[in-house]
Amino acid sequence: MAELGHEVVGIDVDSAKVAQLSAGTAPFYEPGLPELLESSLATGRLRFTTDVAEVRGCDVHFLAVGTPQQEGSYAADLTYVDAATNALLPYLAPGAVVVGKSTVPVGTAARLAELIEGTGARLAWNPEFLREGFAVKDTIAPDRLVYGVRPGDDASVEALDGIYAAAIGNGTPRVVTDFATAELVKVAANAFLATKISFINAMAEVAEATGADVTQLADAIGYDARIGRRFLNAGLGFGGGCLPKDIRAFMARAEELGVDQALGFLREVDSINLRRRERMIDLAREVCGGTVRGKRIAVLGLAFKPDSDDVRDSPALDVAARLAELGAIVIATDPQAIETSRRLRPTLDYVATAREAARDADAVLLLTEWNEYRQLDPEELGSAVGHRAIVDGRNCLDPGQWRAADWTYRALGRP
Ligand code: UDX
Repeated sequence: MAELGHEVVGIDVDSAKVAQLSAGTAPFYEPGLPELLESSLATGRLRFTTDVAEVRGCDVHFLAVGTPQQEGSYAADLTYVDAATNALLPYLAPGAVVVGKSTVPVGTAARLAELIEGTGARLAWNPEFLREGFAVKDTIAPDRLVYGVRPGDDASVEALDGIYAAAIGNGTPRVVTDFATAELVKVAANAFLATKISFINAMAEVAEATGADVTQLADAIGYDARIGRRFLNAGLGFGGGCLPKDIRAFMARAEELGVDQALGFLREVDSINLRRRERMIDLAREVCGGTVRGKRIAVLGLAFKPDSDDVRDSPALDVAARLAELGAIVIATDPQAIETSRRLRPTLDYVATAREAARDADAVLLLTEWNEYRQLDPEELGSAVGHRAIVDGRNCLDPGQWRAADWTYRALGRP
């Protein structure tokens, strides 16, 4: 927002994060963010504080807090959304616009609008679709804008158009709709993406039973423009802070609304996704000669996807932890996610490089497709391991090249 020319104050309850941001340090790994933070702080248009009273006088208030999965349930935890809204209420002035960014169960905006409108301010729901790893680009140049507003609330539309003037000027499509549709657009988009991934992973299961190759299958069906090749990468499946919890919260909300049958397929999407982790463990067992107990296993990649240090619901970290529980000696590495992994799984062994992880290994598992792992040299890595066996959990290596260097190469959905 500051980069776009607006004057911004960022509020958080976490004083350590506020101090870090104020000093120009990004609290997580995201390509391009440190540079952006530095240049924005230098303009004087951006500052951070824990003092919510500093929102006084702001024209627009973005709610961007998390909505994690509730403990012991599929539903979203709205504690933070409610707390942030309530914290804002005393400072809202007539004419101000509160803009919801958080991913919420449909119906939340209507409920919050009641509270907010009591102050004379208005509410708009403006979901964001940014991808980790591309967050800066997706925010500055989004592929679409969605505004959920009260029917006839032209003032909120105008306020948002002002904020996004640069993107709109560049032709970014914008959909102006009601609260419920705006809330649903976000979860529907993530449900579709999750379904696409689980579809190809279901095909991988069939490929495994028939000797077919799911990566060629994906290429071939992907040439059909109606299907498209993107998000058809079979492998260890989806994780992260969004897709898994969003499809679960969507199912929970559908049940409350009495339309759970409509989303029954999402349960299957979730199950297919989780079964890939079991399959990965089976393949690790196979290449280790029947058991992983006492075997040294190198795990390359812990983040839920490359270019991120996020390990929330990470398939890679989950597999690493389960192998350790099964008695394997797991030596794990990741270019960015070691510290975040250590916080969740303090007892795993972490090393800085793929070569160190691979030293004397009985098997190497590639679980997150970082570029540096895609480019590994089979001969080079082969000189470190005890046994040349690799399981490619992301179908990102060339099997021919690895087999030519005398590796046992196994993958998900490939012969
Ligand atoms: C997702 C949505 O893409 C984004 O629009 C939304 O705003 C937030 O949720 P993100 O969580 O950053 O973004 O990750 P995404 O790129 O969607 O990947 C999610 C997971 O799916 C990763 O674990 C990734 O490895 C996996 N994936 C993705 C596959 O297994 N196969 C694919 O073909 C694509």
